[in-house]
This record gives sequence, C-alpha cells and structure tokens, in this order.
Amino acid sequence: MRALLLIVLGLAVGAMGATFAFSALRQGTPYHRGVMAVMQHHVGVLRNSLRSQQCDGPATAARLARLTSAAADIEEAFPSMDKGFYDAARQLDTALAGATKAAPATCAALTVALKPVSDACQSCHQNFR
Ligand code: HEC
Repeated sequence: MRALLLIVLGLAVGAMGATFAFSALRQGTPYHRGVMAVMQHHVGVLRNSLRSQQCDGPATAARLARLTSAAADIEEAFPSMDKGFYDAARQLDTALAGATKAAPATCAALTVALKPVSDACQSCHQNFR
C-alpha cells in the first residue's frame, strides 16, 4: 500500500515537473530574473548576519565571492541594453571588488563595505527597472 502511494506521488510530481518545464520553455528562460534572485539571496544572507551580529570574516568573504560571480552574469542575462545599463553593472562590480578587498571581519566593517554595493543595486534599479 505504501509502495503504491509512493508510485502515485512520484507520477504526480513528475507530471507537475513536466508542466513547469513546458511553461518555462514557452516563456523563454527567465535568466535575468534568476540572476537578480541569486544576488538578492546572497545580499539577504549578509544582511541577516548583520542583524544577528554574527559577522564571520571567512563566511563573509565566501558570500561576497558568490555575489561577485552572480553579478558577473548580469551582462549575459541582459543582452541588448543601453550603455548606461552596463555602466551600472560595472559600478556594482567595482563596489563588490572594493568590499572584497576590504575583507570585513566585523559587523561594523561589513556595514561599511555593503553600503556601496546596495547603492549600486539601487541606482541601477532606479534607472532601469
Ligand atoms: C545593471 C543594472 C542592475 C543592477 C546593478 C542590479 N539590478 Fe536588480 N534588477 C535590474 C532590472 C532591470 C530588474 C528588472 C528585471 C525584470 O523585471 O525583468 C531587476 C530586478 C531585480 C529583482 C526582482 C527580480 C524579479 O524576479 O522580478 C531583485 C530581487 C533584484 N533586482 C535584486 C538586485 C540586487 C540585490 C542587486 C545588487 C546586488 C541588483 N539587483 C543589482 C537591474 C539591476
């Protein structure tokens, strides 16, 4: 009985997955949204560590590296935008390079390092979102 339930559940989940895959194909891959969501996630984790006052240097460095690599995909994810858009993307890269170089090991240092990063997110959103 349990095995039968599992099979039925498996079929249902499989069918749902196929439906999602087909609708994703129809709409084209929403890659640009994916890149933004990944960056949002990493920024969110850093903000949470500030909120809980747990700012571990190596964890912050690893998180910044992942955020930097997501940001490096902005150009690919948004083809055929204005030059100003790519300048804004580069501004974020510069801010992230600065934050990485600062290697913040305390919450105070992380607050300072994150400010130009959030500013770069916001400034592009104001102009292009
Ligand atoms: C170079 C421009 C640019 C930069 C820099 C930028 N964004 Fe965005 N972002 C956009 C645009 C354009 C959209 C709207 C995309 C859409 O709705 O199709 C967007 C949308 C978003 C969304 C909503 C995604 C959705 O599902 O609709 C989030 C979350 C987001 N950005 C987070 C960030 C974070 C966090 C940063 C900084 C680490 C950042 N963005 C930096 C241009 C940028």
